[in-house]
Amino acid sequence: MQQTLDVHVPRPFVKWAGGKRQILPLLTDMFPKRYGTYHEPFVGGGAVLFSILSSDGAAACRASDLNSDLILTYVTVRDRVEDLIESLKAHDAAFRKDSKRYYYAVRAQNPRRQVERAARLIFLNKTCFNGLYRVNSRGMFNVPMGSYTNPRIVNGDNLRAASAALQASGVDFECSDFESVLKRAESGDMVYFDPPYHPVSRAGNFTGYTKGDFTHADLKRLANVCRRLDESGCRVMLSNSCAEEVTSLFRDEPWSVRSITAARCINSDGRNRTGHQEVIITNYGRHSRDAVGAAAFVAAPKRVASRRAGSGEMAPLALA
Ligand SMILES: C[S@@+](CC[C@H](N)C(=O)[O-])C[C@H]1O[C@@H](n2cnc3c(N)ncnc32)[C@H](O)[C@@H]1O
Repeated sequence: MQQTLDVHVPRPFVKWAGGKRQILPLLTDMFPKRYGTYHEPFVGGGAVLFSILSSDGAAACRASDLNSDLILTYVTVRDRVEDLIESLKAHDAAFRKDSKRYYYAVRAQNPRRQVERAARLIFLNKTCFNGLYRVNSRGMFNVPMGSYTNPRIVNGDNLRAASAALQASGVDFECSDFESVLKRAESGDMVYFDPPYHPVSRAGNFTGYTKGDFTHADLKRLANVCRRLDESGCRVMLSNSCAEEVTSLFRDEPWSVRSITAARCINSDGRNRTGHQEVIITNYGRHSRDAVGAAAFVAAPKRVASRRAGSGEMAPLALA
């Protein structure tokens, strides 16, 4: 008799603005076939990180983000998942008795202990408006309550699967600015950057994941980091909005800039949720079909690729 194995594939345990689940197949198709350590300096909800861990449980990975509570939560999921699940169960029970009062009481708290702090982040993420993470100038979370009828606050199976995956590969987490990747990445490593979207319109300028905004100066600093990684022999991939301010920084060799059409998950205006243009920029695959998966090269210049992956379509971007 055939036995069914109850194996849970780990997925992001938080919903995160700019999450890459929609275009995962496209992105992973474009990864090099082989690389050393995988670095993700804007890890957010970790859609790409978990995808890598699902296909190679022993992959060497280093993830970081400027959001200290998010990094603390990853470390807690990795090292203290059962304590975390217990704490989330307590949140769940209290929320169901008096949702609104409880949500705003937790939002006003600032717990000092690791597990309570991580559980608070997950609880707020599951119950706040659209899973947004936004803090005020004093660093206090200020997103209003969402209108879910039955939010899933405790997903023990996924938290345990995530914990097992993070432990098995020994993912190294760090709360730091993206530039610190320069100290860690070595020749042959892969670095994937998914920074906050550069605004393409005034209405779409949500970049408030942390206390500070991601400015144009940060973008230029990032382009410089990409160049230095390229010089040291790393494979580099960057995704962002299809804004002139982004693409103009990557016009020259060795950069390859490709546009995709993707659905954005979090936007305050529901009408803007679909069909926006993003770019994927790499320092490999500009001339060779072999360097990346064939998906990136099926399109002739200026023609949108016929192949679809996830919700995205891909085409080389004709740069002015
Ligand atoms: C677009 S999100 C990443 C989304 C992620 N790829 C996912 O699938 O969920 C951008 C992330 O960059 C982080 N961030 C913003 N400024 C940063 C900086 N200077 N250095 C490192 N991380 C930063 C934010 O906290 C946020 O988590």
